[in-house]
Amino acid sequence: MKRILSGIQPSGALHIGNYFGALKQFLALERDNEAFYFVADYHALTSLRDPQALRGYTFDVIVTMLALGLDPEKATLFVQSDVPETTELAWLLTTVTPMGWLEKCVSYKDKVQQGLPAEHGLFAYPVLQAADILLYDADLVPVGQDQKQHLEITRDIAERFNHVYGKGSEVFRLPNPYILETSAVIPGLDGRKMSKSYGNTIEIFEEPAAIRKKVKKIVTDSTPVEAPKNPDTDPLFGLYALFASPADRAEMAERYRQGGVGYGEVKSRLGDAMVAFFEPARERRKEWLAHPERVAEVRAAAADRARRAARTVLDRAREACGVC
Ligand code: ADP
Ligand code: TRP
Repeated sequence: MKRILSGIQPSGALHIGNYFGALKQFLALERDNEAFYFVADYHALTSLRDPQALRGYTFDVIVTMLALGLDPEKATLFVQSDVPETTELAWLLTTVTPMGWLEKCVSYKDKVQQGLPAEHGLFAYPVLQAADILLYDADLVPVGQDQKQHLEITRDIAERFNHVYGKGSEVFRLPNPYILETSAVIPGLDGRKMSKSYGNTIEIFEEPAAIRKKVKKIVTDSTPVEAPKNPDTDPLFGLYALFASPADRAEMAERYRQGGVGYGEVKSRLGDAMVAFFEPARERRKEWLAHPERVAEVRAAAADRARRAARTVLDRAREACGVC
């Protein structure tokens, strides 16, 4: 049994890139492991400055995870800011983090290029993430490919702290990323990585009609209907493969190779498959939304469990560096 830890930012409604890149792994890993999943609201503050929206998305991410089938008895589903120990550990870690490690972070540079102000919170974002991970003695961290560098920095910071203060015994456990190659990058409507910040997403719980409409907008090349097509390189087929049954997927792959299938038809099959795929979760979501008090109970119980786990590690770190 391993300790699993991962977080997701409440900076917008969750989309199918989040599902295949992260949430699906969360669900698979909760079964035989001790899982901690959290809503990263402190992190979201680096890009979202609307208190009402932040509260709303935080609630929405919890409900989305519960609706997708996350079992709050098995996994600890908490909100990052319900565990203030996180920010204390982040400070301890920041004192051993060289500027150069943060300066080379691609996600910081990307975000600044996209127009976010170059603020300290955004710059120090990976240190807060390291605190999230190290605070729970995590073995495995399921994330999408774009988080790989943050996981490397987390290990580097842990090793450095262990080296400076460990005196032979390890203060922090070194975590490993858990990234599935098959779903490492889900393409968005425009062919770029699906991302809230590109406005090219299909949200998990969008209305069925809206999902079908968006699928129609997915960009495709101009290969004519009759021409044979390669399913292995076509992004539209890649998406279809994620949602279709194995039999439907094999049949469509065969028709691609023979020629005679048009992108319009694939899109209409994809829209149907996507709506059907999330239908059971859509029903469960309605139930949770009808009982916000149950969502609040899940949150409170999880905060309690998370804080107890966090306290042990924070005390170890405080003791090691002498702030106690
Ligand atoms: P966004 O880019 O939409 O803001 P986040 O950065 O909040 O998404 O990502 C939350 C999680 O979902 C991370 O683990 C990230 O790697 C994963 N993820 C996001 N977009 C994709 C995608 N297009 N393909 C695969 N995984 C993704
Ligand atoms: N940075 C992650 C993202 O944008 C969210 C995150 C914050 C996270 N803390 C984490 C992911 C700890 C894994 C572990 O997706």
